[in-house]
Amino acid sequence: MNAHEMSANVPSMRPAVTAQIQAETGLDEVVLRDLVHAFYAKVRMDPDLGPIFADRISNWGPHLDRMTAFWSSVALMTGKYHGAPVQKHVGLPVIWAHFDRWLDLFRETAGEVCSPAGAKHVTERAERIARSLNMAVQDARESGVPDLS
Ligand code: HEM
Repeated sequence: MNAHEMSANVPSMRPAVTAQIQAETGLDEVVLRDLVHAFYAKVRMDPDLGPIFADRISNWGPHLDRMTAFWSSVALMTGKYHGAPVQKHVGLPVIWAHFDRWLDLFRETAGEVCSPAGAKHVTERAERIARSLNMAVQDARESGVPDLS
């Protein structure tokens, strides 16, 4: 283990990058896990978003683990998540208003769980991904691509 890997304190495909992001934002795997758990607790209570998740996720443990790996990859560049999120969202009964609500809850939770720099870091990435997921969902709907997921 080299100096970067030790200072990162998170196994990463890109330890130097991960270490630098951690130093600048205070984000690490523990904070991201707390963020994911607190965020989905709110999502599940939300009258518009809750039922969409409840219809599709019966076992929340694996979903929360997957989402923690996703945020570790997105926010800390650890390479922990291997998946195809677009495929999982195409076919969901959502319009931009759902993504907007998702982002409101995410922003609020990030502000409660992360440092200000950490909240900014994750929120910017969530906003970008939400826009591209929304575009993929609406494009698929307009072009009539059947939902094969
Ligand atoms: C309208 C907002 C959203 C809804 C209703 C929604 C719903 C869902 C549902 C139901 C699943 C489980 C799918 C399955 O296992 O079949 C899922 C998975 C996932 N979502 Fe979302 N989502 C939303 C927005 C987002 C956003 C903005 C992000 C990223 C910033 C995101 C990232 C993911 C990821 C990474 C997975 C796991 C995919 C996998 O299985 O590898 N979602 N979402």
